[in-house]
Amino acid sequence: MEIKRVGVVGCGQMGSGIAQVCAQSGYQTMVSEINDQLLNRGLSAIASSLAKGVERGKLSEADKESTLGRLRGTTKMEDFSECNLVIEAAVENMEEKKKVFATLDKICPKDAILSSNTSCLSVIEMASATQRLDKVVGIHFFNPVPLMRLVELVRTIASSEETVATAKAFSESLGKTVVIAKDTPGFITNRLFIPYLLDAIRALEAGLATREDIDQAMVLSLNHPMGPLELSDFIGLDPVQYIPNAMYNGFKEARYAPPPLLKNMVIAGRLGRKTGRGFYEYK
Ligand code: CAA
Repeated sequence: MEIKRVGVVGCGQMGSGIAQVCAQSGYQTMVSEINDQLLNRGLSAIASSLAKGVERGKLSEADKESTLGRLRGTTKMEDFSECNLVIEAAVENMEEKKKVFATLDKICPKDAILSSNTSCLSVIEMASATQRLDKVVGIHFFNPVPLMRLVELVRTIASSEETVATAKAFSESLGKTVVIAKDTPGFITNRLFIPYLLDAIRALEAGLATREDIDQAMVLSLNHPMGPLELSDFIGLDPVQYIPNAMYNGFKEARYAPPPLLKNMVIAGRLGRKTGRGFYEYK
């Protein structure tokens, strides 16, 4: 199947980045939000990111304009009726996601691929809300989407070979390298990455070293762009808590249990960069 029109459900940090790369790669892209305020905020974030790309010499003014020309925002799911592939990037809540999948199943063409950007939840459970289990996969992007090179493609026990091949070719057409993972909590990346972040938080909690020294140790010893505490602040401490919670529910292994310091910080609203305070303070 040829993918021409793409839908993205959710225009938050991930959804806006995904919509941007789809439109930038030549797809007619429809992105939705639950109200005009959130939609306008997401569309403005895309416009600023494209403007920054022009400023940095990564794309031309004409490319920016043609990208914006291929992008449309909506608050009505009915506007996905002509999409060949939809990427759900709404809140990480299974009940909400199942509602989105059930709605998309009714609205989208019968042969359209429905996918989720979930970072940890069961893709087959989302697929179970549809009548097209073979046409559902996970397409997991990384933040910031325009700059990160990987897509983790999640194949469920019901995804057809054709769906996986089409979703892989589509993801590659966005300039991403694709790895294929089984549909288990956290897939490949978060299965390995989340225990690392949690161990860094446990190390801080145990007084092993200062936040700066923990981060610096990992940046300089492994050539990582950010240390684990700075990166947790960048991702947001709420996802840094709910991803392992979902993984703990799936595996019942202590390594995925969020440490008390993380829980307390989330309760206190210290969610990282977006709230101005996490492990570090942000102006
Ligand atoms: N458009 C196009 N290009 C842009 C751009 C834009 N809007 N903004 C920046 N760039 C380019 C810059 O020009 C620069 O390019 P060159 O390397 O060719 O010079 C490059 O992108 C880096 O830009 P900056 O110098 O401004 O930024 P940086 O070097 O400080 O890197 C960062 C910023 C990419 C965020 C880096 O710190 C990083 O990689 N951090 C780690 C991010 C990470 O781990 N993300 C994954 C989180 S986990 C997740 O998302 C999923 C999950 O399931 C939890």
